[in-house]
Amino acid sequence: MAVELRVQDGPEEVAAAALEVIVGAVREAIAQRGVAHLSLAGGNTPKRTYEQLAGALGSWENVELWFNDERAVPPDDPQSNFKMVAEALGGHPTLHRIAGEADPEAAAQTYEREMRARIEATAEAGLPVIDLHVLGIGPDGHTASLFPGHPEVEIRDRLVVPVHDSPKPPPTRITMTLPVLQAGRGRLFLVTGADKAGPVSVLLSGPDRQYPSSLVGDENTIVVADPAAAGR
Ligand code: 6PG
Repeated sequence: MAVELRVQDGPEEVAAAALEVIVGAVREAIAQRGVAHLSLAGGNTPKRTYEQLAGALGSWENVELWFNDERAVPPDDPQSNFKMVAEALGGHPTLHRIAGEADPEAAAQTYEREMRARIEATAEAGLPVIDLHVLGIGPDGHTASLFPGHPEVEIRDRLVVPVHDSPKPPPTRITMTLPVLQAGRGRLFLVTGADKAGPVSVLLSGPDRQYPSSLVGDENTIVVADPAAAGR
């Protein structure tokens, strides 16, 4: 399988294409298993998509939302991914928050336990299977809070870990690990802007350890990009 690229004209079209993928994954998950688990990225790019998600889905019933990463800040801090997502979504969906205000190691362990308790796991590795990871990419090739050359990229035996010395502020974060992103039924990257063209081309051409976003697996992995991020 190869990573699929869908190029869209501008931010509105990117959001519409992303919504189509998300709604499809949610409907299929609910039809097959009675519940849909999505993990969401922070950052600016997916905001427009989140703002339209409630309308596109019609109902939050049986939809559980998770975070693939969080910044180590309180939930009312302007940098909080929870704050951004909660405001963009509106309403009251089931939103599993990472405690950015807590000790990061404790917050990671608590979130890992919550995931194990709520999400069905693979038989072999016992990894919780998220139906769709909605991800972003940084210009350096990071995804979630997995940064190039950082030790968290190599962790295979945990689901969620603290991150220190992040090159993207704030420096302390909490992130899902690669095995969790890889165990998902699908992955959707939302990318806009010419500064993402390098990592997008690496993601499409195959894995490269210097670009953690290219290590998440290519099966059911879709990139929705504007022409600049697609290198056009
Ligand atoms: C975070 C993110 C991070 C983000 C990318 C892209 O908490 O910072 O989850 O991985 O998705 O850095 O961010 P933008 O969409 O703002 O470019």
